[in-house]
Amino acid sequence: MRMVDLIVKKRQGQALSAAEIAWMIQAYTEGALPDYQMSAMMMAICFAGMNAEETAALTDAMTHSGTVLDVSSVGAQVADKHSTGGVADTTTLAVVPIVASCGVTMGKMSGRGLGHTGGTLDKLEAISGFSVDVAPQRFLALLRENGLAIVGQNEALAPADKKLYALRDVTGTVDSLPLIASSIMSKKLAAGADIIVLDVKVGSGAFMKTPEDAAALAKTMVEIGVHLGKKTAALITDMNQPLGSCIGNALDVREAIEILQGKHQDSDLFAICKRLSAQLIRLGGKAEEEREAERMVLDAIASGRALQKLATMIQAQGGDAHVCQDTSRLPSAERIIPVLSQQAGYIAKMDTQSIGTCAQLLGAGREKLGDKIDPAVGIVMKKRVGDFVRTGDVLAEFHVNEQNMLQEAMRRFLAAFAYSKKPVDPPKLVYGLVDEQGLHDE
Ligand code: URA
Repeated sequence: MRMVDLIVKKRQGQALSAAEIAWMIQAYTEGALPDYQMSAMMMAICFAGMNAEETAALTDAMTHSGTVLDVSSVGAQVADKHSTGGVADTTTLAVVPIVASCGVTMGKMSGRGLGHTGGTLDKLEAISGFSVDVAPQRFLALLRENGLAIVGQNEALAPADKKLYALRDVTGTVDSLPLIASSIMSKKLAAGADIIVLDVKVGSGAFMKTPEDAAALAKTMVEIGVHLGKKTAALITDMNQPLGSCIGNALDVREAIEILQGKHQDSDLFAICKRLSAQLIRLGGKAEEEREAERMVLDAIASGRALQKLATMIQAQGGDAHVCQDTSRLPSAERIIPVLSQQAGYIAKMDTQSIGTCAQLLGAGREKLGDKIDPAVGIVMKKRVGDFVRTGDVLAEFHVNEQNMLQEAMRRFLAAFAYSKKPVDPPKLVYGLVDEQGLHDE
């Protein structure tokens, strides 16, 4: 096979065979294909797309480009959740202990934050002593002993995705439905989970900008999962404003702990945590239907069991579990600076990606892999879309240590807001659910 022939075939809009895709992924993973040819292929896929069979074959080839973890020794079905990436998207830290405390084993392999989106590993490392570098055998032992663990993506899993993602990041080819679907699902499948619940974000802070594109991505990923015998569902949820109020690492951990303490029950963050948890509990066979599962979520929080599960996980992974009772043990910034609205009106829109970038400028996120982050800094949002503000009202608080990018972050933050003289409805929170039966609009 010659790579150039495959590139031309795809550029002409023809479908690649499973054998061609498998050959290409194996050759690229082994270093037998140069980046420039793979870049051309990625660009051709961005323009010409892939049909369902090609996307499944690509996912399968990427899944098997390295080790596929065998979780059978856990002795229970293992569930995983994944968000396609957002801002103030702290759901994992709350959902994993909630679901585990309802009897479903939660084994999650997570990534680091990049660009405007945060990453669960960075958040957990804000807890003193917490280790995300856990070898696969220890990961399985933690699942057997405690029923939950959140660890870093093992290097041996889906190495093709690691190489391809880095290439796509610098060649303008991230933004393609089959490439995103295969990237996410290959990592989930390589980590061996039996149950996968996806949170597909849509809006100004997400990869998918329209509900239609998000639904297409959700359907593709659920079809891949179901086809491979995994219990899979996806919620399509809003990212037209930060989901929670905290954007940072220690700040995010604090908000997740507060959710588990029973606070913020009227918040959008809590609503999404409840919905995602309910799907995992339902697919894990602990409830017949979503309403019953939601009642279990409320009970797990009210009884303190969910918070206790988080403490167990933190302790088992070497961290300071006392943060669950006393969040002042988390790192905190030297200064808290209020950001004041420069005008009056109803908040009509927030450029969520830009707000995420502001937190990154303050030091909470990284521009490129390997950049150092400051766990203490970030943004606490004080307003949501639809709120009325007067000039001088506090829109947010910046938690700051280094001040060199402060002015730029402030300028961008204020520019991220659009105002209206007329009342504005808040954006819809959940656009739909995709399960084995297909898309259910909400
Ligand atoms: N997240 C991933 O893991 N891969 C993508 O391609 C996009 C988001």
